[in-house]
Amino acid sequence: MGKRTLVTSALPYANGPIHLGHLAGAYLPADFYVRFKRMKGDDIVFICGSDEHGVPITIAAEKEGVTPQDIVDRYHELNKKTFEEFGITFDYFGRTSSPVHHETSQDFFRVLHEKGIFKKKKETQLYDEKAEMFLPDRYVKGTCPHCSYEEAFGDQCEKCGTSLSPSDLIDPQSMVSGEKPVYRETEHWFLPLGDFQPKLEQWILENSNWKPNVMGQIRSWFKQGLGDRAVTRDLNWGVPVPLDHTEGKVLYVWFDAPIGYISATREWAEEKGQPDLWKQYWRDSDSDLIHFIGKDNIVFHCIMFPSVLMSYDGYVLPVNVPANEFLNLEGQKLSTSRGWAVWLHEYMNDFEPDLLRYVLGTGLPETKDADFSWKYFQDHINGELADILGNFIFRTLSFTHNYFDGKVPEPGELTAADQSLLGKITMLKKEVDKAYESFRFRDAIQASMALARAGNKYFTETEPWHLRKNNPDRCAAVLYVCCQVSAALSIFFEPIIPDACARLRSSLGIKDAKWSSLTETMLTAGQTIDKGEILFRKIEDKAITAQLDKLREQTLKTEKEAAGTKQQPVKYEPLKQTITFDDFLKLDLRTGEILTAERVPRSDKLLKVTVDIGLEKRTILAGIAKQTDPETLPGTKVIIVANLKPRKMMGTMSEGMILMAENPDGTFRFLSADAENGCTVS
Ligand code: MF3
Ligand code: ZN
Repeated sequence: MGKRTLVTSALPYANGPIHLGHLAGAYLPADFYVRFKRMKGDDIVFICGSDEHGVPITIAAEKEGVTPQDIVDRYHELNKKTFEEFGITFDYFGRTSSPVHHETSQDFFRVLHEKGIFKKKKETQLYDEKAEMFLPDRYVKGTCPHCSYEEAFGDQCEKCGTSLSPSDLIDPQSMVSGEKPVYRETEHWFLPLGDFQPKLEQWILENSNWKPNVMGQIRSWFKQGLGDRAVTRDLNWGVPVPLDHTEGKVLYVWFDAPIGYISATREWAEEKGQPDLWKQYWRDSDSDLIHFIGKDNIVFHCIMFPSVLMSYDGYVLPVNVPANEFLNLEGQKLSTSRGWAVWLHEYMNDFEPDLLRYVLGTGLPETKDADFSWKYFQDHINGELADILGNFIFRTLSFTHNYFDGKVPEPGELTAADQSLLGKITMLKKEVDKAYESFRFRDAIQASMALARAGNKYFTETEPWHLRKNNPDRCAAVLYVCCQVSAALSIFFEPIIPDACARLRSSLGIKDAKWSSLTETMLTAGQTIDKGEILFRKIEDKAITAQLDKLREQTLKTEKEAAGTKQQPVKYEPLKQTITFDDFLKLDLRTGEILTAERVPRSDKLLKVTVDIGLEKRTILAGIAKQTDPETLPGTKVIIVANLKPRKMMGTMSEGMILMAENPDGTFRFLSADAENGCTVS
C-alpha cells in the first residue's frame, strides 16, 4: 500500500439537489483524484456527507412550510443516491445530524472552551421583533456597503463576493417577516483568529505548492488581518452549545460542518468494525489530508478549520486544499433561485454519467471561472469521445475481430512509427501521473486524449484495410500496436470515464485497472479479444435543443413562482358587443417591421416606434416602455391598425396602433405574420 491519504469533498447543504456547479467545484475533481490514487494502490479514504445545519436549511424549510428535518431527510437521500448513480465513489457519505457528529462537534467545542481558546463577548445583533428571533447570516438581506447590490445576504454579498456581518448591511430587512430589524444584545463565543495568524502564516507558507487562486485568497485574508469569528448562533436548529444555561444557542454551522469530515470518518471506521481506524487518518502525522472545495469555502478550510484543529491538538492539517473557481452556465452565473442550473439527477434521466464526467473534466474551473454550455457538451462528445476515442477503439477491435479471428496479431518486426506510438504510452504515463498528482485534471484528460488522437491518426495513415491485401505482416504489426494502445487507453481514462473503460477492459480481457499494469505491451499476441462495440454515440442537435428549452422553461417557471403568480387564475376580459362584417372591413390592418424604437422623454410608459409598412413609414407611440427594452425591438415584425385617426401624445403625433396580446402577468407578445411589409390583413 502506498501513502495514506484522506480526501474530503465539501459537505453539500441538504437544502436542494446537486447541480453541475457543485459537481465541477468539489466532487468530480475529488473523484478523479481518488480513483487515480486507488488505481495506484494507495491507501485512500474518500469522505463526504450532508451539511444539515445552518440558516440555508431553515430558510428552505420556511419557504416550503415544512420542518427543517423534512428538508434534510429529503435532500440527504436524494443527493446520496445521485452521487452514487453518477459514480462519485465516496467511501462514506455521512450527515451532520447524526449522533456521532453531535458528540464529536460538541467535544471539539468543549475542549476548546476548557482550554480557554474562545472569547465570550456581548454584542448587539439584529433582532426581528415580530418573529421574536435574532437574525444571523442569511436571515437578513440588505444593501451591500461595498458594491451597493440591494440583495446582499447577512453573511456575504453574492455580487462582489465580500463576506459580511448582518450589521454591515445598509437598510437591513428580515427574511422571516420582511420587517426592519432592531438591535438587541446577545452573548456569543468567538474564535480569535488573530491569535492564530502567526502560526497559520508559518504553516501555509510551507505549502508553496498550493494553487495560486487559493494562495491569493489566503494572502488577502492575512493582509486584512484576521479578526474574531463567532462560533455560536441564536437559533434552534443545529448542534446545541454543550454548556450550561445556553438554551436557544447552537454551534455556528461553519464550526460544526468541517468537523463533520471527522465524524463521518469515525462512522466509516465503525462500519468497518475497526472503530479506531479513523485516528490513523486524522491523528497520525504520516497521513495526508486533502480538502476539495469551491472557492467560496477557502477561508473556512484554510483558516478557520485549521485553527480549530490546531487548538484541539494532535490533528493533522491539510497538505493541500485544491479549491476550484466557479462554473457558469451558458455564459451566465449559475443561480438556483432563478432556476438557472442543470440538476444532476435530472441530467441522469437523459444521458450517461461518463459523458458529463468527461465534458466537465475537460472544462473544470481549475484556475479561473469556466463555462458549461450544452453546445460545448455536444462538441466535446461528438468531436472527442465519439470521433476520436470511440472511433479508434471501434476500428481496432472490429478490424481485429473481422480479419484476425478476434486475436491480438503477432507483431513481427516493428517500424520506427510503431515504436514511436507505443513509446507515447510510456511518455504520457509520466505526464498524466504528474498532472493528477498536482491536481491538474484538465491536463490529465488532454494528455490521455492525446494518445487516442495519435492512435486514430496512425490507424488512418497506415491504412490497414489496404495492407491487409498487399502486406499482411505489416497489417498484423499495425493492429498489434493499435490493440496495445486500446489497452493502455482503458487505464488512462479509468478515473474519468469508468463505465466505458470497464466495458473496454472486459472486451480486451483485462481484469483490473492498475496503474502499474499500464505498459506498452499489456496484451499478448494470440490473446482473444471481443468484437468492438460502439462506446459513445453522437449527441444529436435535437437533444441539445431540448436541454436548452428545458433550461429556459425552468427559469420562466421559477420566476413566475417567485412572483407569486403561480396559482392565480387567468381573469378573462368579458367579450365586447357584436359588430357587423362591414364594421370589421373598416379596419385597415397592415403588416410591418419596426425600424427604430426609443423612450419618450419624461414618460415611463411610452416608446416612440417607427414602423415600415411598405408604402410608407409610420411613427407610433406604444405604451410598452415598462415591459420591454427598446434596443431589442428593431427588426421585429408587427401588424398595425393603419387607419386609426392620428393622435398627439406627449408632444408627438402617433399614427396608428401596434397589435399585441397581453399576458395576465403584464408581459405581451406582438402579433405578426410571415409576410412582406404592407400586406393587408383580414
Ligand atoms: N455546505 C457548505 C457549502 O455548500 C460546505 C460545507 S464544507 C464543510 O458551501 F467543511 F463545512 F463541511
Ligand atoms: Zn457587494
